[in-house]
Amino acid sequence: MAIPEKFIQDLVDRSDIVDVVSGYVRLSKRSGANMFGLCPFSVSPDKQIYHCFGCGKGGGVISFIMEIENLSYPEAIAFLAKRAGMQMPEETDSAEGRKRARMLAVNKEAARWFYANLSKPEGAPAVQYIQRRGISPAMVKNFGLGAAPDTWESLRNAMREKGFTDNELFDAGLVKRGKNGGFYDAFRNRLMFPVIDVRGNVIGFSGRILGDGEPKYLNSPETLTFNKSRNLFAMNLAKKSKSGYIILSEGNIDVVSLHQAGFDSSVASLGTSLTPEQARLISRYTNEVIIAYDNDGAGLKASQRAIGILEKLDIKVRVLRMSGAKDPDEYIKTKGPEAFRKLLEGSENQMDYRLRAIREKYDLNVTEQKSDYLREAVELLARLPDEVRRQVYAMDLAKELGLPPDVIVNDVERRRKRLVNASFKQVQKEQARPEKQMQPAARELKYDDPASAAAEEGLIRLLYLEPALVTTPGLPPPEDFSAPGLGRIYAVVRKRVEKGQNVSTDHLAGELSGDELGLLVAILQKPEMLSRSRQSMSDYIAKIEERKQLRDGSTDLMALRDQLKKKKGYEG
Ligand code: UTP
Ligand code: MN
Repeated sequence: MAIPEKFIQDLVDRSDIVDVVSGYVRLSKRSGANMFGLCPFSVSPDKQIYHCFGCGKGGGVISFIMEIENLSYPEAIAFLAKRAGMQMPEETDSAEGRKRARMLAVNKEAARWFYANLSKPEGAPAVQYIQRRGISPAMVKNFGLGAAPDTWESLRNAMREKGFTDNELFDAGLVKRGKNGGFYDAFRNRLMFPVIDVRGNVIGFSGRILGDGEPKYLNSPETLTFNKSRNLFAMNLAKKSKSGYIILSEGNIDVVSLHQAGFDSSVASLGTSLTPEQARLISRYTNEVIIAYDNDGAGLKASQRAIGILEKLDIKVRVLRMSGAKDPDEYIKTKGPEAFRKLLEGSENQMDYRLRAIREKYDLNVTEQKSDYLREAVELLARLPDEVRRQVYAMDLAKELGLPPDVIVNDVERRRKRLVNASFKQVQKEQARPEKQMQPAARELKYDDPASAAAEEGLIRLLYLEPALVTTPGLPPPEDFSAPGLGRIYAVVRKRVEKGQNVSTDHLAGELSGDELGLLVAILQKPEMLSRSRQSMSDYIAKIEERKQLRDGSTDLMALRDQLKKKKGYEG
């Protein structure tokens, strides 16, 4: 069955490739748009494509699933649809899928309604509470905080007006059933924290009472969409952080305070102690966690448990010791963000630890060993990205060894420069594309005429990036391409462009082989100056025709020579 283009587009829009890929490959963040995983593998969030430099595989989110789950195109679409909570067009009554979609819809509407209340009189107590807790307007927006007014049926009425039934509201945990069978709002007189999953769905709520009372926090019950043990509060925000680690705290308010102070990789487990599922979720985004649990017996115990769970997943764990405050919120309020940053860095005695590990290998009374220690330590310090820290450590090292500080500082800086140069050269080498590298990764697609293939690649790239160029006069037929693989890709792309269809790699995954798709992605990653695209297009076309004539000419020549040889009778 042909799956409607529109459905595929919606599906792709809702299946962020970074999220999908990180379910399989741990991606570590680096500067730049791409995120490199463990293998020579990159995912570009902007282009929504992945590419493996090793084997040449590549494509969009659908082909990634085809590849990794070993599924056909329609199967991969069904797989992703399930993941995104979308109902496949043909299965008209996947009751559960539909119910889930409705629940996400009502949650989203409820979150909007709670948020909107902050600008209405009935939201005034929550606004006051927000101010009292020192939460900035930016954070209110960032987290989508809201107000549940002190009434019994306002949410219910508002949602019913939007077309949701009592049963739907009940299933979502937004209303409760009274003794007389009626329904009333579950969250009343509370500051509302929507819980948003990493795909951006509002899956449930956590509501804090305004002031004292029980329970302090009321959470959505377990529903089709809300599973506390599998989600983390603010993971949707923290996953975008560039910090390289996740800060795990206990409370929602802690998380808000931390983000407000600039620690944008903070999350909280939703009132439970960290579960293995939550740890796995974290491990998709980082391999380092800093635990900032409450500074009490319970917090300490929860830390111990969390450390065990995280270390099983090979996650590096550090524990913050906040003295003089009961939790991160209080610590930041009383001592300021800078103090918290120092605490974070202090917990980072990784460097001290590693230096000590090196030192313990050597006997510093033996001159030769002393210089070995120095060399190894300098090597380690040179890898510290922060210049000030490099100097501080270098000076400590000098003092320890009784050497002039500036000598060691210079040593470290020289070593650093060499390291940086080496990695820069490495990058340059990777970027330069000699003839050999110009060949596709898949052997069957090998180019016989690299000069023509370069132009063929260019033509495909331009057509993909600027479909309007399909009207360029003199567009060659696919048979004129020197590389049959490129000819096939060109034919498919061109046909789709001519029909006004989408040419994203996700739509092409059904028509091209895996190798061809990988080649297409590789082609798309090469630079193209769009500012002079019309000119480039003509140049590519001219090149392709020129090379074709040359090839045709040479085969004619060879045929001619063969004929001559035969005639003259000196065949063999
Ligand atoms: P805390 O009691 O430490 O709350 O509970 P908190 O976040 O620091 O909030 P403030 O600063 O007192 O306002 C930590 C977390 O445990 C869950 C909530 O997720 C809370 O953020 N919890 C707590 C509940 O689920 N229910 C409760 O009744 C209390
Ligand atoms: Mn707390």
